[in-house]
Amino acid sequence: MNILFNTPHPKQLEIIQDKSKYKVIVAGRRFGKTLVSMMKLMDCMLRGQHTMYLTPEYDLAKTFFTDFVAFFNETLISGINKSELTIKLKNGGSCKFFSGMAIEKIRGREYQFAIIDEAGDIDDLEYAFNGVIRPLLMGGCWFIGTPKGNNYFTKLYNNAKDGNLQDTSAFHFTTYDNPFYPVEKIEESRLDMPDVLFRQEFLAEFTANASNPFKYEDIVKNIVPGLSTDKSVCYGIDISNGKNDYTVAIGINSEAVMSHITSWKIQNNYTEQSSKLNELDSNVLKVVDATGSGVSVTETLENNGHYVIPYLFTAKSKPNLIYTFIQAVESGAVKYTQEVADEMFIYEMKYNDTNVTFGNQPGQGNHDDKVTALALAWYGYSTYISIGQQWQGLTVV
Ligand SMILES: Nc1ncnc2c1ncn2[C@@H]1O[C@H](COP(=O)(O)OP(=O)(O)OP(=O)(O)O)[C@@H](O)[C@H]1O
Ligand SMILES: [Mg+2]
Repeated sequence: MNILFNTPHPKQLEIIQDKSKYKVIVAGRRFGKTLVSMMKLMDCMLRGQHTMYLTPEYDLAKTFFTDFVAFFNETLISGINKSELTIKLKNGGSCKFFSGMAIEKIRGREYQFAIIDEAGDIDDLEYAFNGVIRPLLMGGCWFIGTPKGNNYFTKLYNNAKDGNLQDTSAFHFTTYDNPFYPVEKIEESRLDMPDVLFRQEFLAEFTANASNPFKYEDIVKNIVPGLSTDKSVCYGIDISNGKNDYTVAIGINSEAVMSHITSWKIQNNYTEQSSKLNELDSNVLKVVDATGSGVSVTETLENNGHYVIPYLFTAKSKPNLIYTFIQAVESGAVKYTQEVADEMFIYEMKYNDTNVTFGNQPGQGNHDDKVTALALAWYGYSTYISIGQQWQGLTVV
């Protein structure tokens, strides 16, 4: 047959050969979820079926659509619509790609088979499936994804596993199950990532609140009853960039115990921000968020004789900062007060193919400024101070 078709690896084959109408497939990153989904869709299309593919975001749907189209030999295709993300075959089979951001668009026709990829990331999976897809579905459906906290995908998986759902099977695989993904790369990630995140993303474990990279026990074990009265040896400063944000300065002492916090809300008044920060001891190292409005604040502080390390947040540098901080929290190397812990309890990290974002869980306001400020302080401390390094002529310990 004129199709560029990968041979499924053994665990993918297990999924394909299972006879249940519905399948809930929980698997680690890079297991081959998308590829096995596409193999299944092709099979359905070659039987002349109408199929659909749902993924959380439009960009992802577009990318998968392009990848998918490339699998087919063009002699089989009768039409491709790039704006509708539809591919039709001469035998009548078709596939339309949808995004979880526009669930209502799915209405309008019936499908013989549906794939819900990254099912753990679809905002309201329960409504998407029961309210929209199910009434249009004449055949089976696969829910496939990596766990994302305790949501409807978790519930589906547990119910399927316990045999509570009719004609539904449950599968669980880790990234190690993909023989085409190098074990060394997994090990690299294991070393780079917080343990709780690695277990979620690669071992596909449903932990209590895995979108939060801080484990409850770890957060709790480092809480101190109040600020240390020692001198701060390093400050981390997160600069407010919006109306609802706070600028937060957190200091830690020579044992990395929190010894200072100031936090204020100043809307777009950088002069006032700088003069407030200017009150901090100029001889103490400050790691300052130098993103957006932080640039001018950093410059002002430097001009006023402060020891400043600007920290520019990028798609790569922010995860690095937070990962390093999470490791310090895991190992108990840093201590903080309840108010910082409170932000850690509702902290959320979202991980997708291209980047990682950090913030609060939905509906919890958007205050992660204290966590960021302490992470910056920890970065300064662990990079420049705990090793007793002389910094700009200043011996800090
Ligand atoms: N059967 C296979 N034969 C060859 N390569 C495969 C096979 N299955 C998966 N791969 C390769 O493994 C990698 C991951 O595959 P895929 O993107 O389908 O995984 P995924 O689980 O959807 O990943 P992600 O978690 O990033 O969404 C890709 O490089 C893909 O080409
Ligand atoms: Mg995928």
